[in-house]
Amino acid sequence: MCGIVGFTGRQNAAPILLDGLKKLEYRGYDSAGIAVMDDNGITVQKVKGRIANLCEKTKDGEAVPGFTGIGHTRWATHGAPTEENAHPHLSNDGRFAVVHNGIIENYSTLREELLADGYHFESETDTEVIVHLLEMYYNGSIREALIRTANRLSGSYALGVISSEEPGKIYAVREASPLILGVGIGENYFASDVTALVNHTRNVIYLEDGEFAELSESSIKIFDVLGQEVSKKPTRVLWDVQAAEKGGFEHFMLKEIMEQPGAVKATIAPRIRDGKVVFEELQGILPYLADIRKIIITACGSAYYAGCAGRYALERLTRIPVEVELASELRYSEPLIDDTTLVIVISQSGETADTIAALKECKTRGARTLAIVNVVGSTVAKLADYTIYTWAGPEIAVATTKGYTTQITVLYMLSVYFSDHLWRLTVPEETLTDMLMELPRRIQQAIDMNPTIPALAKKYHDHKALFFIGRNTDYATALEGALKMKEISYLHAEAYAAGELKHGTIALIEEHQPVIALCCNPSIMEKTLSNIVEVKSRGAEVLALTFRNNQKILSTADDLLFIPDVDALFSAVIEIVPLQLLAYYVAKENGCDIDKPKNLAKSVTVE
Ligand code: F6R
Repeated sequence: MCGIVGFTGRQNAAPILLDGLKKLEYRGYDSAGIAVMDDNGITVQKVKGRIANLCEKTKDGEAVPGFTGIGHTRWATHGAPTEENAHPHLSNDGRFAVVHNGIIENYSTLREELLADGYHFESETDTEVIVHLLEMYYNGSIREALIRTANRLSGSYALGVISSEEPGKIYAVREASPLILGVGIGENYFASDVTALVNHTRNVIYLEDGEFAELSESSIKIFDVLGQEVSKKPTRVLWDVQAAEKGGFEHFMLKEIMEQPGAVKATIAPRIRDGKVVFEELQGILPYLADIRKIIITACGSAYYAGCAGRYALERLTRIPVEVELASELRYSEPLIDDTTLVIVISQSGETADTIAALKECKTRGARTLAIVNVVGSTVAKLADYTIYTWAGPEIAVATTKGYTTQITVLYMLSVYFSDHLWRLTVPEETLTDMLMELPRRIQQAIDMNPTIPALAKKYHDHKALFFIGRNTDYATALEGALKMKEISYLHAEAYAAGELKHGTIALIEEHQPVIALCCNPSIMEKTLSNIVEVKSRGAEVLALTFRNNQKILSTADDLLFIPDVDALFSAVIEIVPLQLLAYYVAKENGCDIDKPKNLAKSVTVE
């Protein structure tokens, strides 16, 4: 949800800001802007639409001189995506410019107050109150003005500020929205995400909530809420810069789908030793494991569906009851949780507002918390008692793919690890770890054995709706398959537990209605087969996802997608891959903006 960048140094800021914004465009892309400062003051340039428009307007930044600046790419929350509502916002006296990621919840009260004090507003945004508060509180010290301004704000914010009163300086403030400082030589940066920094520096500092930073070309000073200076050491970003580039693929999404064998391998391989799953990061949990009476998995969107898919293995191997709850529901449900509950929080970004709130709520109620997160140093990773990283690398496409499959992979591994430490394994652990080690190869096979997907996409892309059906893990995968389809292709796609069809949804089945049937669980295959026959006899066209040797399904369905042979315990991570590809090619047929679907942002840092 919005991306912000800042730069100060001895080169023109605008091209660097624009480059950073391009890397952050996945976070929001309805409008963009930069503010750059030189001896003549602050110049602001804004556009509606993509960063490309801003590059054109500013001649790739050459038309905006100055060595210090801030930039923003927007995902609109308050006010339409227009040039007026685009950031940066300027104070009435033109001395301050602000960019903001997050939401100011009390903005309307502040706006009333500022209007009464004679400030005028140029936009409908919540952000604009910040820049007027800064002007109001400025009394010779920007640091002071920032502290007083931050004290008035409720909500979430990562702020970038420049002022003509202090040329050469940029300020960054963090409260419940990601913000990272980049430590350069003779230049310094901030950004919402490391992807915007790694072209310039790999040395980064993660700001904590309540902290703010003052950056000049030669120094970085960090302060706590009270304005006391704190000392923080930079950490080094290890991943490959290439990982955040398209690498010859037409879209990040396709690249990330293809990267899944490698991402799953990177997540599994370091944690399997001598036929056992080893989580060094979880040693502290082992003494309490036998006391755990219930596991709650909580997350949003696809991460929630990863929980739905992983739950079966977790429950089956650990024999501990597992509930999966949407974070946005759990946080307000007064959950029955105590220190015998283990809450597993799943988040690719580690910055999803509802997930963070649910995590905090569960901690307050005494639960032990374990996070499965992709982004190192993110809020969820820091808040949870224990954190397991999915080593998926940077995920740029808005629709998650490798983030999702590595989340399920960690749940599989956790199932084996917990079961072993609870003495509940009924098969040798080595048999299960061998199956886990096979998963990357199986994912590659699932990619290779479906060359017909582009052709199937041509057949199915212009239907009004697509239904996905399945049972158990097939149903969990159907949920994610339908989400992938709707979010990138804009087709109406819904998933149903196959056994539920007769309780209402079958009324929607008519001649040529496509139904995508997932049949990857031999123990309940016959049941799903009956549902296929039921919809077919009402005119549906069935695209079945199953094993190559599944004769009954092969002879009943109209079209087929395949997965390689894999035990149903761990099949969800394989099954989703052909469905991701189907969604991708349907979206391509429909001419959609696949990496940046309309109305969506990668990291949902507001409620
Ligand atoms: C869908 C998608 C979203 C995210 C959800 C949670 O493709 O990416 O549904 O899964 O917004 O995001 P994280 O995992 O970052 O908490």
